[in-house]
Amino acid sequence: MRTVIAITGASGSNFAINFIEKCPSEKYLVASKWGKRVIFEELGIKFDEIKSMVDNTFSDWDLASPFASGSNHFDSLVIIPCSISTLNKIASGISDTLITRMAQIALKEKRRLVIALRETPLDSITLENALKLSTAGAIIAPVSPGFYMDESSISDLADSFSNKILTLIGIKRENGWRADHISSNNGTDNGEMTSGELATYDSNIEERNLSDLEKEVLDALLLGGDQSQSEAERLKTALYKLKILKSPKKDDKE
Ligand SMILES: Cc1cc2nc3c(=O)[nH]c(=O)nc-3n(C[C@H](O)[C@H](O)[C@H](O)COP(=O)(O)O)c2cc1C
Repeated sequence: MRTVIAITGASGSNFAINFIEKCPSEKYLVASKWGKRVIFEELGIKFDEIKSMVDNTFSDWDLASPFASGSNHFDSLVIIPCSISTLNKIASGISDTLITRMAQIALKEKRRLVIALRETPLDSITLENALKLSTAGAIIAPVSPGFYMDESSISDLADSFSNKILTLIGIKRENGWRADHISSNNGTDNGEMTSGELATYDSNIEERNLSDLEKEVLDALLLGGDQSQSEAERLKTALYKLKILKSPKKDDKE
């Protein structure tokens, strides 16, 4: 597998460095002028210092470099982070830099193109262009990690995002949320929760160290529920109410 990684001038250099570290394939790196600048602003390191992490680097201005030609194969181009400027240029068919040229090649040759866009909020021009690129075969993967896999640091978030990208480009299969349940044959229907699932849910709540008061509220809500409701419905309602109790509205504070 041959992966080309492109860094453009958007925030999130740590996600780029993490991805370079984690990517196990043959890998090449191109950074735009502003990509290099943002790396310096955010991490205090010069581009030269990360060159040794990859097999080779190429200049973004050099349209005579090997990957400016479709004849030199790469499997995937991952633009991480991708600025809105670069996304909009690619969508318009502009290829006046190595990064935009490689993106054009990836699209025309039907190779994997992952665009880890980083900007917020997004204007309608960018949204329309993102749709255009998605329709043309690119994967729009905003730098937007999940928070449900026990991530406790920025580096954990970057790790999980890197895994996601590696999965997208077919280098790794991500071990997803509760993956161990896939083959455990515990009857997870997607409708009402079974009593077994309820028990698991219940013990998960215990594990989350609810305060005594919260436990009391939960018990009260569960015991005092309408008998015609199923256990699952009552637990769901209780949890919902508990969430509200955990973060009271301003008016409720007095
Ligand atoms: C510190 C810094 C952070 C920036 N963050 C973003 C960003 O998150 N998203 C974005 O689209 N542009 C961001 N920009 C602006 C881009 O760098 C600018 O539009 C540049 O022209 C992008 O060029 P490139 O796509 O060729 O790298 C940032 C610029 C600086 C200096």
